[in-house]
Amino acid sequence: MKQVIIAILVIVTIVSLIVISFTVNQVAQEEVRLKSDMQYRSTLLADSLKETVEPNFINKSDANLQNIVNRFEDRERLAGIAIYDNKGNTTAVSSTIPQDITQSQKIAADAMDADKTTGDFISLQNSKYYVLAIPLHDDKSVVGALTIVQNAGYIDARLYEIWRNNLLRLLIQASLISFAMVLLLRWIIYVPIKSLVESLQSARAGQQTSKNLTNSLLFKPLINEVSNIRRSLFEARSQASEEARMRLEELESPWTAERLKESLKDILKGRTLFMVSNREPYIHTKNNGKISYFLPASGPVTAIEPVMRSCGGVWIAHGSGNADKLVVNRKDKIQVPPEEPKYTLRRIWLSEKEEQGYYYGFSNEGIWPLCHIAHNRPTFRKEDWEEYVKVNQKFADAVLSEIKNEEKPIVLVQDFQLALAPRMIKSQRPGALVGIFWHIPWPNPESFSICPWKKEILDGMLGADLIGFQTQLYCNNFIETVGRELESLIDFERFTITKNNHVSYIKPFPISIAFPNGFDQSENENDRSDKEKLLKSLNVKTRYIGLGIERLDYTKGILERLKAIEIFLDRFPAYCGNFTFIQIAAPSRTKIKKYQDFAKEVENEVERINSLFKSKNWKPVVFLKKHHNHKEIQIFYKLADFMLVTSLHDGMNLVAKEFVASRYDEKGVLILSQFTGAARELKKALIVNPYNGEQTADAIKEALEMKPSEQTKRMRNMREVIKNYNVYRWSAELLKSIINLG
Ligand code: G6P
Repeated sequence: MKQVIIAILVIVTIVSLIVISFTVNQVAQEEVRLKSDMQYRSTLLADSLKETVEPNFINKSDANLQNIVNRFEDRERLAGIAIYDNKGNTTAVSSTIPQDITQSQKIAADAMDADKTTGDFISLQNSKYYVLAIPLHDDKSVVGALTIVQNAGYIDARLYEIWRNNLLRLLIQASLISFAMVLLLRWIIYVPIKSLVESLQSARAGQQTSKNLTNSLLFKPLINEVSNIRRSLFEARSQASEEARMRLEELESPWTAERLKESLKDILKGRTLFMVSNREPYIHTKNNGKISYFLPASGPVTAIEPVMRSCGGVWIAHGSGNADKLVVNRKDKIQVPPEEPKYTLRRIWLSEKEEQGYYYGFSNEGIWPLCHIAHNRPTFRKEDWEEYVKVNQKFADAVLSEIKNEEKPIVLVQDFQLALAPRMIKSQRPGALVGIFWHIPWPNPESFSICPWKKEILDGMLGADLIGFQTQLYCNNFIETVGRELESLIDFERFTITKNNHVSYIKPFPISIAFPNGFDQSENENDRSDKEKLLKSLNVKTRYIGLGIERLDYTKGILERLKAIEIFLDRFPAYCGNFTFIQIAAPSRTKIKKYQDFAKEVENEVERINSLFKSKNWKPVVFLKKHHNHKEIQIFYKLADFMLVTSLHDGMNLVAKEFVASRYDEKGVLILSQFTGAARELKKALIVNPYNGEQTADAIKEALEMKPSEQTKRMRNMREVIKNYNVYRWSAELLKSIINLG
């Protein structure tokens, strides 16, 4: 757009310069023509009058002279006539002549002195006149002068008219040129190029269908070439995919992005997948005029993003970045990942009030502490609940508009922020297959019963055909809760709940990460220098490194962990100076007071422990309160001797799995809270009760002193577990389960 404006400006400037210089020239010529015409006419009149005036002047017949003068009043351009004697006195003068005639007297005097016709343009009372004087003679000498005064104002008026007309013409020309330029650039260049880009993007994303390429003569050769490239790409792809399918049938290979893609082709049969979550996978922000994006620290995003990359579809989520609106199209959509589009992200906009009530209020001050047994009292406010209902409806409406042309859409709703959406979608589109996956724990029925809107939440979730939880225990808790709160039919054999003739299946699907894809599988030559650089930048000089990474959230047990480190250093002082714990915490939900207080408490605790143990060049805890991207975190994972995950309650905890996945060297120890979903799978971690500081301190010691062979044995086992049940398998099983219900 900027270039188009510059091109238009350049052309308009050139046209303006041409028109202005032409006008200057035209005006100058016209002025010369009009002036000489006036001089000529004035001279003719003066010469013809002189014949009559001279005898009367010599005879001093003033009355006759006045009569002659009077005859020339009321002529269109003639202002009047004046006759002077050679002393400058007026002998006869038209009544129409301007009062102040000093200047015309002067011209008359000049004509008499020089004894020749003299003329000049003068200004009087804001009007322009042309005065021509010719000397009158008796036999011997000059006796007076006859002066013709002409109105010359029309010359300026005519010149002004030329300017006005030409500038008006210029304005019309400039507008027409700009309009024509925009049309030309749009239809001749922009539209065909855009269609080419879209066609290449859709080919790259593996979409068979794309809009027809625009018919443009100008780009015909290029369009033909692109069509050929698309065709070859599709042919190569389908051949490769056929080969992959055959290979997969032969081998019992682990789940990968490629395998998921292939098996989803069979499962989905051309149907589009609609993913719905509060948190979006890409957040665009604008800093110092530059737009960039990042992936937020969020379990569901970590898990689902690779799935969407591999199977495509539409992901509907809250657009929370300050530049999100600047990068979407008219339908609030953007193709992502931005540098290599694979699926569509449709953004939902929330007002501050909606975000406050729905996200901060009901979701994070209500349901979050309600479901996590972390001894933080939930807060339920009616106004938050109202926003929660409203925003769930907003998400449901967006889904409904997206699936309106889909015959049997598959909708996968994510997590506790959208508990009501399944019912809202299903009531409008009973034929849609709807699933909801609950990423966080589901508490026991007593704990859940304190929620004032428990029945509405349960009913909203039971709109789904499939309700997934991280563990069997959470499934059991949910079924028991429904049994207690709602009238429904529960089948413990099939794990179904029937309410108003609709059946919902309740099943565990422990979520995982994209492994092996997405993680380095071999020693990278940069690894060593990256680690060294990182430690240097943090000013960490130590032999052993412990690591903690999470959102700054009170459920993660960060204070309990710090306490355990204090106990560890107290009990095993030999590690002072040799051991540093790096705690990375991404700020989260920072508008909520409990989170602000918690962040301060953690900072104070870090300071307290550091001041207890620190020495000149060493301190036990390095606290990094900021968001780190995937690549940065990988380096931390690789340099840690142990990773400490001490969540007080956690649906799964994907950080634990990411740490294991990053350790291709099969070294390092995972210390894992027994209250995480991950503890059920990663049995070779050192499992601890995070409330038991002494036990955690012992685990730290055990980790630091564990033999390398033992580390490898444990790490290898855990890596196998994750490889066998990675997020590709998770999504394949979840989707297969939903589709089998349809
Ligand atoms: C947990 C929840 C998610 C949430 C994530 C990050 O993993 O289960 O639903 O997205 O935390 O929290 P945030 O509030 O920043 O999205």
